[in-house]
Amino acid sequence: MEDRSHLTTLKGAYDHKMMEVTLRVRRYAGEGARAHTETYTVDVPVTATLLDCLDEIKDKQDGTLAFRKSCRMAVCGSCGMRMDGGAVLACKTAMKPFVDAGHTVTVSPMGNLPVIKDLVVDMAPFWSKIRAIKPYLDTGGAKAPEKEWRVTPVQGHLVSKEALCILCGCCVSECISMESDPDFLGPAALAKAYRFVGDVRDGDTRARLKDLSGAHGIWDCTRCYFCNQRCPKGVDPRDAIAKLGAEAFREGLTRDEGARHAKVFVNSAHKGGFLRETELVPKTIGPVAAITQIPFALQLARAGKVPNPLAPHKAKDNAEVKRLWKLLESQAPKQKERANSGAPIDGTES
Ligand code: SF4
Ligand code: SF4
Ligand code: FES
Repeated sequence: MEDRSHLTTLKGAYDHKMMEVTLRVRRYAGEGARAHTETYTVDVPVTATLLDCLDEIKDKQDGTLAFRKSCRMAVCGSCGMRMDGGAVLACKTAMKPFVDAGHTVTVSPMGNLPVIKDLVVDMAPFWSKIRAIKPYLDTGGAKAPEKEWRVTPVQGHLVSKEALCILCGCCVSECISMESDPDFLGPAALAKAYRFVGDVRDGDTRARLKDLSGAHGIWDCTRCYFCNQRCPKGVDPRDAIAKLGAEAFREGLTRDEGARHAKVFVNSAHKGGFLRETELVPKTIGPVAAITQIPFALQLARAGKVPNPLAPHKAKDNAEVKRLWKLLESQAPKQKERANSGAPIDGTES
């Protein structure tokens, strides 16, 4: 029997401060069964989280309700689920604001992962992506300079956000690229990849970046930023993917389609302050392959979606764009080299 004395203590302290929470919970008994929604109402302390409410349902109303949990303090990453369509950690989500707003929340399993039962998803596809990015340090044979390999605070800061990941899968749940391409490595694995690419002790940077630049890798991210929005630990996976892209460019890995696509954006903005859409397809996939896209281009033109390629397409104050460009370039030297030289980055001190 699980020790629930912590809840009893809570309940004692807040006996006079209880609230009634109603939850709509997506139920699914497993393969072949039809999913349906059940509504539960529980009395819980005003401090209760979504996980406390689910525990209360399971203990007092319906022992068949399935969900994962362990640490209860946003550390183990096991209680990821959707609330009102967006992934959350159940143990980090306080219910009082919803009760105060008179809102009944709907709880369902995370997205982009197969559902096993109720709120429990199969994490196997998640782990296979994590394994695919080689989630461990490879010093390339280099030995630690002393007994241990010391990392300065500035060097550690390069990957401090990515190191916060608890592998909960909330970002994966909301990734729109994974929805259309289940083979896309996805935000969690790519954030984990930057954890090692950005580590000053790792000696496998180029090979890692080469792998990550291929099909289903960094360039398949649509930059929707939902992963940043849903991550409960502030890892900001989309930012990590942007850093991987920048590192790939610095390593000269710019020949694949995704990198060429990004290059057209960058060069076009540099030249005229705008994206020249008409150049995007031929310069990304090459002029020969672009010919196959002519019927689609004509469809777009008929719908008024193709700008006149002959019209001047320059921002009014292009000099300002160029000034910003220079500023960005001066602020983005190779991060690892900078950290190794002892220079501060992003306002940190060594
Ligand atoms: S920003 Fe990229 S990785 Fe993040 S959720 Fe969107 S498509 Fe997925
Ligand atoms: S990046 Fe954030 S949301 Fe994604 S698995 Fe790690 S902690 Fe969870
Ligand atoms: S129970 Fe461990 S993160 Fe929620």
